[in-house]
Formats: sequence, structure tokens, C-alpha cells
Amino acid sequence: MGKLSYILLVWSLSLCLLCLFPIPSSAQLKQNYYANVCPNVESIVRNVVKTKFQQTFVTVPATLRLFFHDCFVQGCDASVIIASAGGNTAEKDHPDNLSLAGDGFDTVIKAKAAVDAVPACKNKVSCADILAMATRDVIALSGGPSYAVELGRLDGLSSTSASVNGKLPQPTFNLNQLNSIFAAHGLTQTDMIALSAAHTLGFSHCSKFANRIYGNPVDPTINKTYVGQLQAMCEDVDPRIAINMDPITPRKFDNVYYKNLQQGLGLFTSDQILFTDQRSRPTVNAWATSSTAFEKAFVTAMTKLGRVGVKTGKNGNIRRDCGAFN
Ligand code: HEM
Ligand SMILES: *[C@@H]1O[C@H](CO)[C@@H](O)[C@H](O)[C@H]1NC(C)=O
Ligand SMILES: *[C@@H]1O[C@H](CO)[C@@H](O)[C@H](O)[C@H]1NC(C)=O
Repeated sequence: MGKLSYILLVWSLSLCLLCLFPIPSSAQLKQNYYANVCPNVESIVRNVVKTKFQQTFVTVPATLRLFFHDCFVQGCDASVIIASAGGNTAEKDHPDNLSLAGDGFDTVIKAKAAVDAVPACKNKVSCADILAMATRDVIALSGGPSYAVELGRLDGLSSTSASVNGKLPQPTFNLNQLNSIFAAHGLTQTDMIALSAAHTLGFSHCSKFANRIYGNPVDPTINKTYVGQLQAMCEDVDPRIAINMDPITPRKFDNVYYKNLQQGLGLFTSDQILFTDQRSRPTVNAWATSSTAFEKAFVTAMTKLGRVGVKTGKNGNIRRDCGAFN
């Protein structure tokens, strides 16, 4: 057998192995997925997001966090947007929805209406993809990196409050706990540190970090000046109060999140641990120094997050109303 035919044989054998064991889900997503059915879908969504952003900045953190929660519970399939109905308590009503702000839901519902107003696009674009596009858009609108978003997700067919149990990271988590919950979705420690920078914007209720500021002694890894400020603002964990998670640039998607960690200004245990733990500190330091390196890692991690548990074929459909099953 000649060298060339040997190479061809190995090549066709490996192709056949690939067809027997396809890389799950991720392989089906692609950029410009709607190019033939709804070519303007990305600009339609972007215009709605822009308008909503001009009305309220909360659009940014609310949409970003909604996407994260959606992907971590049953995959990126818009199951988090389903409203509870007829005795079924949906994902969004689990206590761990951690008070998802209504503006994220509203953004998706408005963008869906705008897409469906174009006859060719009607009922052709999934709610899961609209959420992925809107998330990309809010990041860019608040000063973060802009990236090409992969599309082709279907909407999921179930949403239960019970499915949320244990799926979302808690603010009290240490590095091992964070790593293992992200690893369960194929995300590395580096991805986890990059995605945590989402806390460069948005708000938290005091109950989420009360253990750090009202303990005796207070958490030794928190900045002394910052503790005093937080204690004053929280007024004994008043549930109506929400605190900026990035005290320095709360409305900018930037790498100040990592600079804050270097000064003990991380709000949650799960934020500050990224600097305290020797295993993750070098990454925090590198990204505090280089916003380019951070942005590159963030885009990689967001793209991987967007591939988690994607539904295709019989496992999903395109919802007519993002808040209800067809
Ligand atoms: C690393 C583990 C994480 C933990 C423990 C965590 C936990 C939390 C908690 C407790 C809050 C405050 C909720 C409240 O009191 O209302 C919050 C807010 C937020 N989280 Fe995370 N989160 C994590 C990762 C992420 C990721 C990966 C993203 C997105 C990519 C994200 C995006 C957000 C945003 C944008 C907010 C602000 C929400 C708003 O202002 O409405 N978080 N997170
Ligand atoms: C989140 O869950 C709480 C109950 O745990 C519920 O009162 C609240 O309405 C839910 N938030 C959203 C946006 O659905
Ligand atoms: C605490 O935070 C302030 C800024 O709020 C900063 O100037 C100071 O260096 C920080 N302290 C430590 C020990 O990092």
C-alpha cells in the first residue's frame, strides 16, 4: 500500500469515528445561523436592546445574569423565561433565581416581538438565541468586548423550580466549589474567573454577603474601609437595599473587577477567593493588568457558556411566546 493511500485510509477511518461519536451539541451552533431565514435578526435585536438600555441601565446586568442562569439550569434553552402556570412552579420562581431583575425578561420578550413583526422571521428565531444575542449586545453597550455570537439553539420543553436545585453557584463558595460547578458544564477555572467579571456591573442584596461584614471578626480578606462603607449602606440587611457589586466603575463592563479584587474590594466570598487562593491569583493579576487579555478570555468563556446543553431536533422547538410553552 502506497503512502498516499495509507494516509487516505487513516483519514477516512477517523472521519468515520467522528460520525459515530459526534461532538455533542456545540457542533450544531454557528454564526449567521439565520442568514437565509431572517437575515436582519441581529440588527433587529440590537435595536430593541439599545432602546431598552437607554430607558434603564438595569437592562445590562439583568440580561447578562439571565443568560448565565438559563445556561446553568438545563442548558441555554430559555427555560428560565417560562412563567409558572397551572400548578407547575417554573425555574424563575426558585429562590435561587436570586431575584433576577424583570428587565432581562422584558428585553427578550420585546426583542422577540420585534423579530416576529417581520413576516419572514415570524416564529423562526428561538427565544434562547434571542437571549444569547441580547446578552452579547448589552456587554458591548456597557463598554465590554463585542463578539460574533453562535446561534442555532432551540427552546427547551421543560422548566421546573426543582431543576434549579444545586445548579447555581452560591456567593459563599470557595475555589474548589466554584471549579467543580463550572466543570460540570465543561468550563475551566480560567473560564470561571473570566465569567466572574460579570460582577463588574449590577447589584446585590446585602443578605448575599452579610456573613462577611457582620461576622465577629469580619472576613479578614475584605478591605477594612470597604467593610465600614458596606455596613453603613446595608442598614442591618434591609432587603430593599441593593449594593453596586463594582464600587469603582459600576456601570462599565471592564477589568476593574480584577483590580478591585487586588484591593480586597470583591463583594462575595466567591469573588474575593479568586485573589486569595494562590491557584487563581496569577490569572486575576494578569487580567487586572491587561484588559485585552481579559476580554479575549471572556469572549472565549462566553462562547463556551453559550454551548452548554443546547437543544436540537426533538428536544426543543421555537416558542411562539417566550414565557410559555407552545
Ligand atoms: C462565580 C459564581 C457566581 C456566583 C456565586 C454568583 C452569585 C451572584 C449573586 C449572589 C448575585 C446577587 C443577587 C442579588 O442579591 O440580587 C449576583 C448578581 C449578578 N451576577 Fe452572579 N454569580 C456568579 C457568576 C456569575 C456569572 C458567570 C455571571 C454572568 C456571566 C453573573 C452575572 C451576574 C450579574 C450581571 C449580576 C447582577 C444582577 C443585577 O444587577 O440584576 N454571575 N451573582
Ligand atoms: C424569584 O423568586 C422569588 C421567590 O423565591 C419570587 O418571589 C420572584 O418573583 C422571582 N423573580 C422572578 C423575576 O421571577
Ligand atoms: C482599600 O481600598 C482603598 C480604596 O477604596 C484602597 O485605597 C486601599 O489601598 C485598600 N486597602 C488594601 C489593604 O488593599
